[in-house]
Amino acid sequence: MQVIHTIKQLREVILACKEAGKKIAFVPTMGNLHAGHLQLVSLAQTKAEIMVCSIFVNPLQFGDGEDFDKYPKTLKDDTRQLQLLGCDIVFAPSVDEMYPGSFNAGSDAGKAGVMQSQIVVPGISDILEGASRPGHFTGVATVVGKLFNMVQPDLAVFGEKDYQQLLVIKRFVNELCFPVEILSHPIVREENGLAMSSRNGYLNTEQKQQAAALYQTLQSVAQKLQSGSQDYPQLEQEAVKQLQQAGFKPDYIQIRNTDLSQPTSDSKQLVILAAAWLGNTRLIDNIQLSLQS
Ligand code: PAF
Repeated sequence: MQVIHTIKQLREVILACKEAGKKIAFVPTMGNLHAGHLQLVSLAQTKAEIMVCSIFVNPLQFGDGEDFDKYPKTLKDDTRQLQLLGCDIVFAPSVDEMYPGSFNAGSDAGKAGVMQSQIVVPGISDILEGASRPGHFTGVATVVGKLFNMVQPDLAVFGEKDYQQLLVIKRFVNELCFPVEILSHPIVREENGLAMSSRNGYLNTEQKQQAAALYQTLQSVAQKLQSGSQDYPQLEQEAVKQLQQAGFKPDYIQIRNTDLSQPTSDSKQLVILAAAWLGNTRLIDNIQLSLQS
């Protein structure tokens, strides 16, 4: 496995793979890998000959006061896990390699600086996560677009925990004609139902148990929808109360069509999305469901 830190070297290696006619699969990550990431890599590996994984904590997608500075950086352990899985290339650029001159040693998270060109996907980027984290999806889309131009993958795999992120990426890939197939992988959960996330590392043992209530709340909304309830605002309010009783400070819990538009009484393909604070940690989760016609 090669661990590459510069765009120049990555391009040379990718060119050699392309010239050899190899299909390239890509999983972009911010590192601190857990079983959820590893399942994305395993899925990607079944689809191509060359597996590339990037590890880059992207300052452009963090807002002021968010956790950019404390986001765990565990490159050594991450590369060890990727090597065991049989990954071929790890691309781990520095902030300056990705955004030359734009960020001062990573301390200006969220500020674009001299970086002028960005991928903006209005509408879908401005609701839910985007409303709570302005600029977040522009940061995600921009770095993913840049990484796609560097890695030139045939396909890329993303986790469904970041449901809205997945939709934003599919949207710009389609509209801007990036020649990349986007695949997704279902949420991977801890035994108690908590969706795996690098941010779970911020929780103490007691909070990890408590955090299971986020998924339980989504499940109870899903059950009520499956039993025919269609009063979406009422269901959302009950879910907010349930989360508060479990010790969360809810940011939002919303029932949407799978394209994130508002559901009607005819809607059959739904997604329930939630974001909530447990202490100083912001967790997100979602459940997709199909109602019987
Ligand atoms: O989902 C993530 O870990 C990040 O948002 C991504 C896609 C690697 C872009 O920085």
